[in-house]
Amino acid sequence: MGRSLEGSVVLVTGASAGIGAALVQEAVGRGARVVAVARRQERLEQVAAAFGERVLPVVADVRVDGELERAVAGGLERFGRLDVAVANAGFGVAGFLEELTLEDIRRQFETNVFGVVRTLYATLPALVASRGTFAIVGSVMGYVSVGGSVPYSMSKFAVRALAEGLRCELRPHGVAVVLVSPGFVESDIRRTDRWGVVHEHARDTVPPWLRMPTGVAARKIVRAIVQRRREVILTTHGRIAVFLARHLPRTTAFLLARARPRRRSGKEAGGPAASRPEGQLRAR
Ligand SMILES: NC(=O)c1ccc[n+]([C@@H]2O[C@H](COP(=O)([O-])OP(=O)(O)OC[C@H]3O[C@@H](n4cnc5c(N)ncnc54)[C@H](OP(=O)(O)O)[C@@H]3O)[C@@H](O)[C@H]2O)c1
Repeated sequence: MGRSLEGSVVLVTGASAGIGAALVQEAVGRGARVVAVARRQERLEQVAAAFGERVLPVVADVRVDGELERAVAGGLERFGRLDVAVANAGFGVAGFLEELTLEDIRRQFETNVFGVVRTLYATLPALVASRGTFAIVGSVMGYVSVGGSVPYSMSKFAVRALAEGLRCELRPHGVAVVLVSPGFVESDIRRTDRWGVVHEHARDTVPPWLRMPTGVAARKIVRAIVQRRREVILTTHGRIAVFLARHLPRTTAFLLARARPRRRSGKEAGGPAASRPEGQLRAR
């Protein structure tokens, strides 16, 4: 693929909002053609509208077997090749474990872990053919597990393990694996409840000064992909958290054990899910 995206074809899951939508824009800006995948057709078409034939929107759900294969087939038919796949689709199941169920955790893994694995299996033959790049959007929460967000952290620890081992397996095939570990980035994720429902008017619990703009995040992610870097950690607070987790694990455990996650009221999360037992994520 060289060091540019010029002439490359990029598939992005979770392309209808947040980081994924910004990635579509950034990739096209760098000369790529993009297969943009998500469930909400209207949002996806809004994202694709500005780019004409350069973006192929495909409505697909990463939880459903076979849907990503269909997206890849559509991309190959339109563009003839695939150089980069970004497994970005995700959301957070928040809440204290005592109030969650096995079903909540299964739902979290179905999207954040098995969705990534489905994306891998669907794109791998084309990536091997192009000696391309598979990027996984994990999280700083793949290094630290905080009370109130355990299912989310479990899922992000899992995809970090996937990235590390997969890198060894794909190296002989010339396919690079890039792990993206963001701290707080501007997006809808903290307005999305544990059932995956977005509450557009809900307040983001993270103060604006702490959130990286999506455009900045997308630029850094695409740069890491082009450079075939092993990992990119986004945000200063994210890099500090990962440094502490790696080098001062006992201090980190001490601090985390004393962190008292706040139980959120339904009202704060807003929207129709407010009457449900709510536990919106504070940390993503
Ligand atoms: N923003 C942060 O602070 C932050 C921090 C660390 C990690 N991350 C990670 O970044 C990634 C992107 O999240 P975001 O922050 O950009 O959140 P977002 O604004 O809520 O966007 C999530 C995207 O994922 C898609 N999606 C969700 N479930 C899907 C499914 N089953 N099938 C296909 N697409 C699905 C959504 O589209 P549809 O609803 O249309 O399907 C949407 O496009 C996630 O993996 C998240 O864990 C975010």
